[in-house]
Amino acid sequence: MKTHLFLTGFMGAGKSKIGPLLADKFGCPFYDSDSLIEDEAGMTISDIFKEYGEPYFRSIESDIISRLVHYDTCSVIALGGGALINDDSFDQINDKGILIYIKSSPEEIYKRVKDSGKRPLLSGIAERNPEESMLIRIRTLLTERAPVYEKADIIIDRDPLTLEEIVTEIFNKVNECRIN
Ligand code: S3P
Repeated sequence: MKTHLFLTGFMGAGKSKIGPLLADKFGCPFYDSDSLIEDEAGMTISDIFKEYGEPYFRSIESDIISRLVHYDTCSVIALGGGALINDDSFDQINDKGILIYIKSSPEEIYKRVKDSGKRPLLSGIAERNPEESMLIRIRTLLTERAPVYEKADIIIDRDPLTLEEIVTEIFNKVNECRIN
């Protein structure tokens, strides 16, 4: 049986909020890959990007994923929004788990990330018209990544739903997946 439940989706989709609630519902542990990366590196993600650049961040990220997929008890794992761009990580995740895409529109993502300041890929936005510039960046990256997100086993259109409804919908769909 596929052991783990992997949550994917763009930055600000709500993976780290939904993950613990889902783990509670399934009675299994929750892991957040970004937090594990920060623990491993002993620094924040913003500092990893600043000091060592994105390729170094991606190498820690893919190492952590290779370890997580081998845990032998069921876990809920929130992935960083860019984790699936590594083909090898995608294949391992696909092999060992059920992949769940938390889908959200660029406008709703913008509302959730605009003040966070902890996402290097969305920082350094032009001073003039920052709202439009950030939305353009979100749209561009989302368009690039959507084809891989859409390969998920389960897709949840989260924008019209409450957190509780999202968790219930995922719970029901995972159970259907496991029966079939
Ligand atoms: C990234 C998403 C972030 C984090 C890093 C890179 C991305 O995680 O892994 O800043 O490439 O989309 P969240 O999706 O949890 O914000």
